[in-house]
Amino acid sequence: MKLSNNTILITGGTSGIGLVLAHALQKLENKVIVLGRDSGRLQEAKRAGFDIIPCDMSDPGAIEQASVDLQNRYPDLNVLFNNAGIQYNYNFTENVVSPQKIVREININVTGQLILTQLLLPMIRNNNNGVIVNTTSGLGAFPKSDGLVYSASKAAMRNFTIGLRHKLKSTSVKVFEFIPPVTDTHMTSQRNEQKMSPDALVNHIIPQLQKNKPMLTVFSMRVFLIIARFFPGLAAKIVFE
Ligand SMILES: NC(=O)c1ccc[n+]([C@@H]2O[C@H](COP(=O)([O-])OP(=O)(O)OC[C@H]3O[C@@H](n4cnc5c(N)ncnc54)[C@H](OP(=O)(O)O)[C@@H]3O)[C@@H](O)[C@H]2O)c1
Repeated sequence: MKLSNNTILITGGTSGIGLVLAHALQKLENKVIVLGRDSGRLQEAKRAGFDIIPCDMSDPGAIEQASVDLQNRYPDLNVLFNNAGIQYNYNFTENVVSPQKIVREININVTGQLILTQLLLPMIRNNNNGVIVNTTSGLGAFPKSDGLVYSASKAAMRNFTIGLRHKLKSTSVKVFEFIPPVTDTHMTSQRNEQKMSPDALVNHIIPQLQKNKPMLTVFSMRVFLIIARFFPGLAAKIVFE
């Protein structure tokens, strides 16, 4: 992907990995629009010089409205980062969980991203240098026991990414999968384990974006993906124990 002079939408660009990515891409002379739900974080992003689109990714009507706004305000939008995400941690087999909680996690992590991608695809295809980047997770390759719904949602996005890339192979639109390792953000604030800083992660993946690597990630994740595929017993030891 060319790293400058794009018009880029980052969902979940108001916090964590998305926000660091937004700053890095802005420094590289791109127009960066961040989409989020929390109004305080959106205003902070505005003060930092980003254009903002308020939208709750769990609400199909709000996504349709955001898509209309984007097409009106940014007809040259050519890059979409599907990065917004939430993770609820609970014991799926033991806890009583409201159906709404399950629906919400799937809607934000999967359904909303599929809807947004569908709605923006004609515009991204029409513009030169179209790019779609889907943020997934190593847990989409092998689930963790206290995050079964999250893991399933990321597996769905991994599968979608492969299919989308295949469907767009005769067009100029490039499709990338971005797999962060455990990274120090709001999402992982309760987890006591080694975490990569979002700045180090973004510095690491920007050159991979430039080289059009279909999978943007770190070496340890590439090793984990091989283990998950070929040695599931070992992957279970790593994730479950
Ligand atoms: N951190 C990790 O270790 C890790 C590892 C693998 C994958 N990931 C993935 O990386 C992505 C970014 O996560 P992060 O770690 O940077 O987490 P984060 O700091 O919690 O950021 C999550 C972002 O998603 C947005 N978001 C959440 N619910 C939303 C909704 N209903 N509508 C619109 N936006 C919504 C948030 O915006 P609001 O605050 O405005 O809601 C926020 O900008 C996620 O897809 C996550 O699954 C993270």
